[in-house]
Amino acid sequence: MATARNHSGAKKTISPRKMDFPFEEIDSKYWYNGNALLTTFFAALSATFPPGEQQFIDSVRYYRNQVKDKKLLEQIRGFIGQEGHHSHQHKKANQELDRRGLFATRLEEHLKRDIKFLNRFMSPASQLAATAAAEHITAIMAEYVLTHPEVTAPMADSVGELIEWHAVEEIEHKAVAFDVYMQCVGDRQLLRRSMVMISTEFSLRVMAYQAALLYWDRRLPRPSEVVEAGRFLFGKRGMIRKMRKPFMEFFRRDFHPWDVDNTHLIEQWKAAHKALEKHLEAA
Ligand SMILES: [Fe+2]
Ligand SMILES: [Fe+2]
Repeated sequence: MATARNHSGAKKTISPRKMDFPFEEIDSKYWYNGNALLTTFFAALSATFPPGEQQFIDSVRYYRNQVKDKKLLEQIRGFIGQEGHHSHQHKKANQELDRRGLFATRLEEHLKRDIKFLNRFMSPASQLAATAAAEHITAIMAEYVLTHPEVTAPMADSVGELIEWHAVEEIEHKAVAFDVYMQCVGDRQLLRRSMVMISTEFSLRVMAYQAALLYWDRRLPRPSEVVEAGRFLFGKRGMIRKMRKPFMEFFRRDFHPWDVDNTHLIEQWKAAHKALEKHLEAA
């Protein structure tokens, strides 16, 4: 049975940081470079977070009583706190998107219903495996965002800060669901099958949600927007291109999320937000 390895990240205390971002400053409907495809990409992602993260929390919470390892129990508490705060801030952002005519909260409701329906056919073990797989996707997306500052550069400050804060905490707690899964279920095959399922489902869902947002606004993307979005995803520094290799790591027989120790990204963010960290320590 695999356990958390001896990496600095695996032993870290996970503390939720309560944040509050002024999303009112988003100044237009298509706030990402005026690009309808890229704006709806981020809006669709944001819409999936509140129901998705609630499902992550529930699937881990189900197994909490079976976990004996004290450090992991403490990390579960931190994980639940962090995901709860992410969910709350994305909910707020989604309401602001609604006000600008991108109906992200309708998508939230849609996903909530879908999860409820799918859970009728999934065992607790499958749900936890799906969470561990999804957490790997969010962790490698987080690493991509934090190592490619051009991603958040076109965003309003509050949105960029939301995404960077969320990314840092996704890295901090990237192994929690995985470790709970390995301690309580431990089936590697189910884990790999879940990754195939969740990565396909998630990609199709984000595309469908983008299409819905554009349809509700009766907006067709312009050719220049398609080219820019294509470059964003598949270009030299593109998100999909850069995420392919770390994504495939998950299928290794002895994979553990802390095989890649990227705690320096957390430290960099902390150094840039020193005042905030001090304030949180004092609270
Ligand atoms: Fe999160
Ligand atoms: Fe997470």
